[in-house]
Amino acid sequence: MLYGADYNPDQWPEEVWDDDIRLMQEARVTTVSLGIFSWSRIQPAPDVWDFGWLDRIIEKLHAGGIAVNLATPTASPPPWVTTHHPDVLAADEFGAPYWHGARQHHSPASETYRRLASEVVRRLVERYADHPAVVMWHVSNELGCHLPVEYSDNARDAFRRWLHERYGSVDALNAAWGTDFWSQRYGSLDEVFPPRRAPYTRNPSQVLDYHRFMSDMWLECYRMERDIIRAGGATQPISTNMMGPFKPADYASWAEHIDVITDDCYPDPLDPHRVRNVAFQRDLVRSLKRGQPWLLMEQATDAVNWRPANPSKKDGQLSAESAVAIGRGADGVMFFQWRQSRGGVEKFHSAMVPQAGTHIGGQPTRTWREVTSLGASLADLGDLPAPGDDAPVALVFDWESWWAVEEDAKPVHVDYLGVIREWYGALHARGVMVDVVPPEKVDGRYRAAIAPFLYLLRSPGAQQLESFVAAGGTLLAGPFTDVVDDCDRFRPGGFLTQLGPVLGVGLEDFRALVPPVLGGAAERAGQEAQASGGGGGQSVQVSGEGLAFRGTFLAEALVPLGAEVRATFDDGPSASRPALTRRAHGSGHAWYVATQPDASGIDALVGAILDEAGVAPVVPGLPTGVEAARRGSLVTIVNHTDHPVEVAFGGVGTLPPQGHAFVHTA
Ligand code: GLA
Repeated sequence: MLYGADYNPDQWPEEVWDDDIRLMQEARVTTVSLGIFSWSRIQPAPDVWDFGWLDRIIEKLHAGGIAVNLATPTASPPPWVTTHHPDVLAADEFGAPYWHGARQHHSPASETYRRLASEVVRRLVERYADHPAVVMWHVSNELGCHLPVEYSDNARDAFRRWLHERYGSVDALNAAWGTDFWSQRYGSLDEVFPPRRAPYTRNPSQVLDYHRFMSDMWLECYRMERDIIRAGGATQPISTNMMGPFKPADYASWAEHIDVITDDCYPDPLDPHRVRNVAFQRDLVRSLKRGQPWLLMEQATDAVNWRPANPSKKDGQLSAESAVAIGRGADGVMFFQWRQSRGGVEKFHSAMVPQAGTHIGGQPTRTWREVTSLGASLADLGDLPAPGDDAPVALVFDWESWWAVEEDAKPVHVDYLGVIREWYGALHARGVMVDVVPPEKVDGRYRAAIAPFLYLLRSPGAQQLESFVAAGGTLLAGPFTDVVDDCDRFRPGGFLTQLGPVLGVGLEDFRALVPPVLGGAAERAGQEAQASGGGGGQSVQVSGEGLAFRGTFLAEALVPLGAEVRATFDDGPSASRPALTRRAHGSGHAWYVATQPDASGIDALVGAILDEAGVAPVVPGLPTGVEAARRGSLVTIVNHTDHPVEVAFGGVGTLPPQGHAFVHTA
């Protein structure tokens, strides 16, 4: 079990370092992520290199028994880089540059950036690949975090190369993008630009490809550094820290290039769905490499500094959320950062060693108390089983569909992540383990799968879902599913062209409703959305045998083609038409729901699907606010409430507020 933090000794005089190591030992820190933003100290000028300080701190850490997750400092090029090489700068939608002065101001497509970054990485590897303190490599930092999409000339040129590789010819690109619409036909790839500022809605296929391209650019930067590290003889695992459901980066496509998944998670204290959203993020990152543990690379010990308001964590919440990570597959609990900064943007951000100190008047500060007690309990944990095939349910979540479905000019605006998390919430509340995967990964290890708003459905994904059902799985799909192909074009022959025969329904029309505001919509900037807490918008009534709920977003007009109708719309634009259908296919069943149900409807449908598939909760009968997760033979139970709860499982007994228990089962 790794325990530690980002460590930035370059922000401190060397006199502080011995104290750091003493305190790390006291907190039972095992590992630090070192030097993440240290480029300007390692290479203060084009031809000046200074590794002396890094040599000294690595030696000290090693002597102190602390391992190093050595970072490449490429997430923030020093001012000299962009002063000498303005072509490194990223650009906004208007083509105007972002300047240095914050971080991540570079274009990932810039050849100059890549050359300079390669040089730093090469030198680091040459020097430290064999150092016994170095147990892992931390490539860059949160790739694409601040500038997920940029529009520089570097990006333009790289986009043209990327398109050439994808389509081979301009004719193929014209066909893929439907450029005969609005006279957009290209004569050559040299006429293509990134989707910069335009007077009106931009070509959706171009925008979709630009999402793919930018995600690929950041991945390319990772792979470039990874290859240099390997070529330099390093044998340690290599990773880059992800950000859970981060829209710009298709982590499902990144995962195979990364040795161990590492994730940063900063739950919003004002999010009414915090518990659900934290569990969702843990399950999502665990599902990226099924069967392998991952690492919680960053969380905050207490408040962050970057939301409009930054309240503290509750007493014990740090430990509770760390337990959720472990229970859902993490083999490490790390923080940003070790010692709170004295200057710079993040000086109000909490850390393991707070600015207020470890003790005041002889008493430990809350942060220090929690940090040392968590460290001690992790040190006592012993070996944990690897995550196995613990989840009987797959929730289908797909980045390409996310990008495409949220583009403008649709029947209704969909908050895809919000909708997915509502479905996840019902599964979480029922205490079942869920993997969060793209459709191509829905295989025989699952008994049930749920695929809402799977707007862009690739053919292999559709085939996989069909075989899943044929082999005995239970699938619940819809609404707004199987609408377009990989290029965001309608497929010939209407809608539901791939899944329709499995589901036994045809789709005549989407019939939009004014959408509701979903709670907890955005991870990072979402306090306004959270404050509104859901609700609003138009809704329609759905009823069937033993079933009644309201539907939002769409009331699709379905035509049953062999499916039994389980519920119908009572009112609204599709009144008296099917709202919920079910069809036997092979040895399994395929359900379709033609609207987004409200919370009670989602819960009822999830209940029906789980019953049909024979899926049971990890621990039955837990009170509200208490969650359980399975990781091989280990069951983790966490009480997120503010009162003690009784748990009749594995001899747990009373769990205090924010308390947790690890139960080893046979
Ligand atoms: C991100 C970054 C860190 C730091 C934290 C603050 O996760 O990786 O460098 O900025 O946010 O919350």
